[in-house]
Amino acid sequence: MDRGTPIEDTVGALAELVAEGKILHIGLSEASPETIRRAHAVHPLAALQTEYSLWTRDVEDEILPLLRALGIGLVPYSPLGHGFLTGQLRSPADIPDGDWRKSNPRFVGEAFTQNLQVVDEVRAVGAEAEATPAQVALAWLLAQGTDIAPIPGTRRVSRVEENTAADAVVLTSDQIARLDRLTPAVGARHDDANMSTIDR
Ligand SMILES: NC(=O)c1ccc[n+]([C@@H]2O[C@H](COP(=O)([O-])OP(=O)(O)OC[C@H]3O[C@@H](n4cnc5c(N)ncnc54)[C@H](OP(=O)(O)O)[C@@H]3O)[C@@H](O)[C@H]2O)c1
Repeated sequence: MDRGTPIEDTVGALAELVAEGKILHIGLSEASPETIRRAHAVHPLAALQTEYSLWTRDVEDEILPLLRALGIGLVPYSPLGHGFLTGQLRSPADIPDGDWRKSNPRFVGEAFTQNLQVVDEVRAVGAEAEATPAQVALAWLLAQGTDIAPIPGTRRVSRVEENTAADAVVLTSDQIARLDRLTPAVGARHDDANMSTIDR
């Protein structure tokens, strides 16, 4: 199916696969509220995948309330802010050549520098909670509700173990409130070309 295919047709085809027992659930990625409603009317959606993290909270305005009203789970992608929230990147020079983040609006120039304030606040909460910044970022997401299942990405087993252990990190209500009040990120979450393809 191409990009112009109505969502009803796409979900209708997937619903046939559910009926045949070939797939168990249907989910969408980066869909607008209208698309979510239209898709869910054809067949109940299990989950929506979209970007959600301490520095990308747009989903809280309209999408998360809609998902909860419809009983759809949320799978936050890039829950570590593409690695920025882990505190491992301290300057644009830390990003390897050829890495797509080199041109992401939040990772360039003055935006990068200003965004270090966000990770410094995350690091401060982590020091209190005896958790790494990555674990704090994940524990904050997990504290938002049992209908939220973040999917951090890593190429290293040690980080899989570290990130999984975030499940056992308990943040106090004061720590969660401080994280809720974090300085907003500077820069759009994707460049213009990518933004035009999402939230449709
Ligand atoms: N649906 C969509 O449109 C969409 C879009 C983007 C991503 N996704 C999915 O979302 C998942 C994760 O997203 P993502 O990889 O973009 O971003 P992410 O999970 O926010 O960050 C991943 C980055 O953080 C680093 N990292 C992971 N754990 C760490 C730790 N404990 N300490 C320090 N650094 C750590 C990784 O480096 P190392 O690999 O070197 O550990 C990697 O550079 C992936 O499964 C991806 O496929 C979906």
